[in-house]
Amino acid sequence: MAVPERVVTNADLEKLVDTTDEWIVTRTGIRERRMAAPDEALTDFALPAADRALEMAGVAGTDVDLVICATVSPDRIFPATSCAVQDHIGALDAPAFDLSAACTGFIYGVALGAQFIEAGRARNVVVVGGEMLTKIVDWTDRATCVLFGDGAGAVVLQAAAEDDRGVMGYALHADGSLGDLIERPGGGSRAPISHEMIDAGQHHITMRGNETFKKAVRRLAEVSEEALAGCGLEPLDVDWFIPHQANRRIIDAVGQRLAVPEGSTYVNVDRYGNTSAASVPIALDELNRAGRIQPGQTVLMTAFGSGLTWASAVVKW
Ligand code: ACO
Repeated sequence: MAVPERVVTNADLEKLVDTTDEWIVTRTGIRERRMAAPDEALTDFALPAADRALEMAGVAGTDVDLVICATVSPDRIFPATSCAVQDHIGALDAPAFDLSAACTGFIYGVALGAQFIEAGRARNVVVVGGEMLTKIVDWTDRATCVLFGDGAGAVVLQAAAEDDRGVMGYALHADGSLGDLIERPGGGSRAPISHEMIDAGQHHITMRGNETFKKAVRRLAEVSEEALAGCGLEPLDVDWFIPHQANRRIIDAVGQRLAVPEGSTYVNVDRYGNTSAASVPIALDELNRAGRIQPGQTVLMTAFGSGLTWASAVVKW
């Protein structure tokens, strides 16, 4: 993982919008988030995250044959941020593309990378999940600006030597009929960049938070069960549950429905806020570097986001 140095606390936000630390903590569980500097962009974090993942895996960048970057807040609309990662790590001529599935993007990327490996079309795949959402939120909208943070995380996928290790299964879903629950309406071909579009604030994230909340709880629990069942597992078999870190109340409600073992759910939303596609890989890296995931343990990663999209992956570590 790689995150900005600057920590923005709820007390800092109290000076910006009509909010309180008490409201933010009670409704979301968020206490602070990381925020990129004005001159920092996604590649300032996506590149070091990829470097650190390769170093940990002991894989040379020149041996990488596919780069996927999940993001909805790239450096530029095009070319893809993954191409900058590919160039930086020296994965000469390897295919590279960005994947747009908002908060679910990293899990979509892991599933896709695993497919390339299973099909024998790639040996070493780098999957990055990264966002700079503080660059695209409306800093006058208290309902959204308190929620998001910046950062990136990355993994290296390789074929496992044993059959019972690695990405054991996944379940991926979307429902495009609910695309307007969380969106950034301006800047694309529907509402191209113009003074009018910007004056209307369409270049910012908009979200119908309450409706999103209800959908999130149900879908996160369902898709987790589906991915586990596909591997012949039950929630009680999970050693580590890494849910998308959007809101502590969503995580708790999903935990009640899913019945994973006590103490198996990892939570860091208090320190990072919602980092969208980066949230699962940041949590995974924190757990792993702390030595808390043991070889052979079952890790369940589940996310939900704009699209709507939702997905879950089961990994035998
Ligand atoms: N400080 C103080 N009051 C606030 C704030 C704030 N920061 N934000 C909203 N309020 C007010 C509202 O104006 C409203 O006031 P009113 O009753 O006078 O109208 C009141 O608090 C309640 O607002 P709700 O939106 O109903 O609050 P809710 O309990 O639903 O919490 C939240 C809002 C935290 C956004 C919650 O709905 C949520 O977490 N939703 C899910 C978000 C999510 O998971 N997104 C996922 C993906 S993001 C992506 O894909 C990029």
